[in-house]
Amino acid sequence: MDLGIKGKLALVTASSGGMGRNIAHALAAEGANVVLFARTEEKLRAVAQEIEQRHGVRAITVAGSMTDRADVERLAEKLREHGGADIVVLVSGRPPNPLRDTLEETEQARWDEAYRSQLWGVIEVVNGVVPQMLDRGWGRIIAVTSASAKQPMAVHALSTVFRAGVTAYMKGLANELGPKGITVNCVAPALIDTSHRTGASAYTEAQAAYRKKLTPLGRMGSQEELCGVIAFLASMQAGFVTGSTVAVEGGMIGALF
Ligand SMILES: NC(=O)c1ccc[n+]([C@@H]2O[C@H](COP(=O)([O-])OP(=O)(O)OC[C@H]3O[C@@H](n4cnc5c(N)ncnc54)[C@H](OP(=O)(O)O)[C@@H]3O)[C@@H](O)[C@H]2O)c1
Repeated sequence: MDLGIKGKLALVTASSGGMGRNIAHALAAEGANVVLFARTEEKLRAVAQEIEQRHGVRAITVAGSMTDRADVERLAEKLREHGGADIVVLVSGRPPNPLRDTLEETEQARWDEAYRSQLWGVIEVVNGVVPQMLDRGWGRIIAVTSASAKQPMAVHALSTVFRAGVTAYMKGLANELGPKGITVNCVAPALIDTSHRTGASAYTEAQAAYRKKLTPLGRMGSQEELCGVIAFLASMQAGFVTGSTVAVEGGMIGALF
C-alpha cells in the first residue's frame, strides 16, 4: 500500500537511536525526507547516513535537547529552511532509571526530571514547530506515549503520570488543529523489544520474564510492529483518525476498547 507520504518532510525527535531511529527509517522507507533531532551529534550523523544510503531520501540532523528552548528554536529554524515539517513524531527519552512503583517515588528530583523529559520536552517541541504547520492545510502529529497511561503497569509510576499528561495534551491539540487539516494521535506501546539497548537494562531478569506473560501473545513486540502503526498514522489513509490513542501492546490492556 502506498502511504502517500513520498516527499513529505518528517521530524522525528529522540532519533539518534532506539525507537526514534527505527521510526525515522520506517518513514524514510515510504519516501519521506526526515529531520532527526537528539542530543548526540555523532550518533545522529550515523543514523542520517544509513537512512540516506538505504532509502535514497534526504536525512537532516539537528543536535539538541527537547527540553532546551534554544535547541528547539534551532530545530524550528532548520525545519523552516526546508519548508516546514508535514509530519511530526514525538518520541521522548526514557524516564529516570531505575523504574519504581508509585509509593517508592519519593524524590522530588526524579519527579522534576520525569516531568521535563516525558511531558515538557514534548510541549516545548510542539510550541517550537507546530505554528509553522498551521497554514499548510495538512499535517500529522504523533506522540509515542505508553500503554501504561491506560492500564498502569508495575514500576512505571513516573512514566504513567506524565504520559497520561501527554495524552491529554494531544487530545486538546487534536481538537484545536482539526480545522487546519492536521491530525493528532498517540501511539501507546508496551512490551516492545529493546534489545538494541546496550548497558544496564531498565528491568531485572524477573521483571522481564513477568512482562512477557502480560499479553495473550506471550511475547515482546518488535520495533517493526510498532513503527508500522506509526507510519500508518502518518499516512494519507489515516486522515480521519484524530484524537485517538492506538495501543501497540500485544493485547495487554484488558478493556474492550
Ligand atoms: N519499549 C517499550 O515497550 C516502550 C513502551 C512505552 C514507552 N516507551 C518509550 O519509548 C521511548 C523510546 O524508547 P527507546 O527504547 O527507543 O529508548 P532509547 O533506546 O534509550 O533511546 C532514547 C533516545 O532518546 C534520545 N533522547 C534522550 N533524551 C533526549 C532529549 N532530552 N532530547 C532529545 N533526544 C533525547 C536519545 O538520544 P541522545 O542521548 O542522543 O539525546 C535516544 O536517541 C522512551 O521514552 C520509552 O520510555 C517504550
